[in-house]
Amino acid sequence: MSEVHVHRVKDEWKKDALIDAATYEKWYQDSITDPEGFWREHGKRIDWFTPYTKVKNTSYEGDVSIKWFEDGVSNVCHNCVDRHLEKRGDQTAIIWEGDDPADDKKITYHELHEQVSKLGNVLKSNGVKKGDRVTIYMPMIPEAAYAMLACARIGAVHSVVFGGFSPDSLAGRIEDCKSDFVITADEGLRGGKKVPLKANTDKAIEIAEKAGAKVRNVLVVKRTGADVNWVDGRDLAYEAEMEKASAECEPEKMNAEDPLFILYTSGSTGKPKGVLHTTGGYLVYASMTHQYVFDYHEGDVYWCTADVGWVTGHSYIVYGPLANGAITLMFEGVPNYPDAGRCWDVVDKHKVNIFYTAPTAIRALMGAGDDYVKRASRSSLRVLGSVGEPINPEAWEWYYKVVGDEKSPIVDTWWQTETGGILITPLPGAIDLKAGSATKPFFGVQPQLVDNEGGVLEGAASGNLCIVDSWPGQMRTVYGDHERFIQTYFSTYKGKYFTGDGCRRDEDGYYWITGRVDDVLNVSGHRMGTAEVESALVAHPKVSEAAVVGYPHDVKGQGIYCYVTLMAGEEGSEELKKELVAHVRSEIGPIASPDKIQFAPGLPKTRSGKIMRRILRKIAEDDPKALGDTSTLADPAVVDDLVNNRQNKK
Ligand code: PRX
Repeated sequence: MSEVHVHRVKDEWKKDALIDAATYEKWYQDSITDPEGFWREHGKRIDWFTPYTKVKNTSYEGDVSIKWFEDGVSNVCHNCVDRHLEKRGDQTAIIWEGDDPADDKKITYHELHEQVSKLGNVLKSNGVKKGDRVTIYMPMIPEAAYAMLACARIGAVHSVVFGGFSPDSLAGRIEDCKSDFVITADEGLRGGKKVPLKANTDKAIEIAEKAGAKVRNVLVVKRTGADVNWVDGRDLAYEAEMEKASAECEPEKMNAEDPLFILYTSGSTGKPKGVLHTTGGYLVYASMTHQYVFDYHEGDVYWCTADVGWVTGHSYIVYGPLANGAITLMFEGVPNYPDAGRCWDVVDKHKVNIFYTAPTAIRALMGAGDDYVKRASRSSLRVLGSVGEPINPEAWEWYYKVVGDEKSPIVDTWWQTETGGILITPLPGAIDLKAGSATKPFFGVQPQLVDNEGGVLEGAASGNLCIVDSWPGQMRTVYGDHERFIQTYFSTYKGKYFTGDGCRRDEDGYYWITGRVDDVLNVSGHRMGTAEVESALVAHPKVSEAAVVGYPHDVKGQGIYCYVTLMAGEEGSEELKKELVAHVRSEIGPIASPDKIQFAPGLPKTRSGKIMRRILRKIAEDDPKALGDTSTLADPAVVDDLVNNRQNKK
């Protein structure tokens, strides 16, 4: 193993930090020995119309039931908007930075209140009721945040679908949660390129309706002004609807356990799952982690570069920061447009204090050279964050030294769509850093490492990462399929939440996430099931069978390596490879583009027909010497062909 770089908490980071080392230790102990008392206190950080008397009612056994603050009544939009009006109504809530560097605007809390209230009324007057599912398929424009908050305000449940997903993927998500209202834009704009969101929506609705879904309305925001197809009676122009709407819209009284949103995410098998988060616990957890992990102080400018289509955008662009009355920056573009210095230019332009991004972006920008960084002063930066995949120590050190000038701590935050908020992370003023480690658990989080048989590992060890007790931000169910929730997360290791990640704990009790131990890929921080890519490939008429594995990729973290067996009589060619790449992109979206395709006359299978992925992974990693025992294969000879024709030979 490479040498571990330890960076002690500096005096400047301790100064004014919200949490120091002693407070971290004390609060952490309290949160574990008396979760009820700890969260009874911290649940008060949000406003409740009716205060809760019950705090924690959770069980990982049997039917698995997770309830927090269950008799409390609140509203997420009230907490993110209305409650700030008196104290900071004229303060900026959202700084929007457009794709074009000349395009930006600021939205105050007063303006945000007006917009979300009007939009809440637009939704209501078009028949959206409490509990209805609204699909949001939007570019990174303020209207995306308004849409989420307006749903929360009227008690509708939003399902945000990343704007990079294909019509097919969007259709599947509309169908699964029986959503009959879609909010989109004419087109998106990213890196100077247009994304045909309305056209994709039209196609998706056609696909979904063939499968029995019914979409009543599509509300279309004008972003580029492109001429788009219009279905009279179904499509509604956002601007015209907002014009008519009143700005008085009382936030709905929501029980703490009423659903707030559904967000689809990939697992090792089957279709993406609708992860369901609820109102009270989610907001308490998102806001508390946002404040302490980023050491957020009043007036700080905070920028998370994620897209609202992912959970990071939900918890750390919209809900966490706005619940804290923060100034949150929303960026429409990409880090390398117009050039690789964009992020640092934006940091200077808006005096960003806290910057949160993904390792894949850090590696890509590192590759572009230091000059892009150095042309900006970055003097406003105080805290840097990382999320989405393991960060390699080289990228960590570059981020720390070159971007942060060794002045800003890096919080490497480990969490998942399912966890609602950050679970393992340093706190800037409290926890010494080790490059590449997510360090220590947040308050209330009890990680445990187990071996493959479920045996608990103590002390320094490597194993499968479980969490032994609930925290308020935890998902409550898989939408419409509670059995799948139990099976996926609580059946591998009875009575524990299994994360799907492998992890090492060192002698100091620091956690080092090593990546997924299941068939989930993490490509540029985007989570994807190998089964999803495989089913996209076999949907192509020339493909008879496919097996997909990940392999280490310098920038993306993992690349997508596809073994494809063609139908009898079909020939593999470079042309066909291109066709298959295009096919996967159109089935799932560009994020699922295969990096390597190998035509394979046969796949290594056991005698019972199970594909031996271990072997495919080793070949994809260009490590054929480590294939191990192949004698249990039905036809060991297929391996030689695969090894000889591997696409990753160094
Ligand atoms: O494998 C872990 C990885 O991303 C997975 C969760 O993906 P998703 O639900 O899309 O959420 C991503 C943003 C929270 C995890 O199971 N992951 C996330 N953060 C880290 C990470 N791996 C290592 N270090 C991290 N900081």
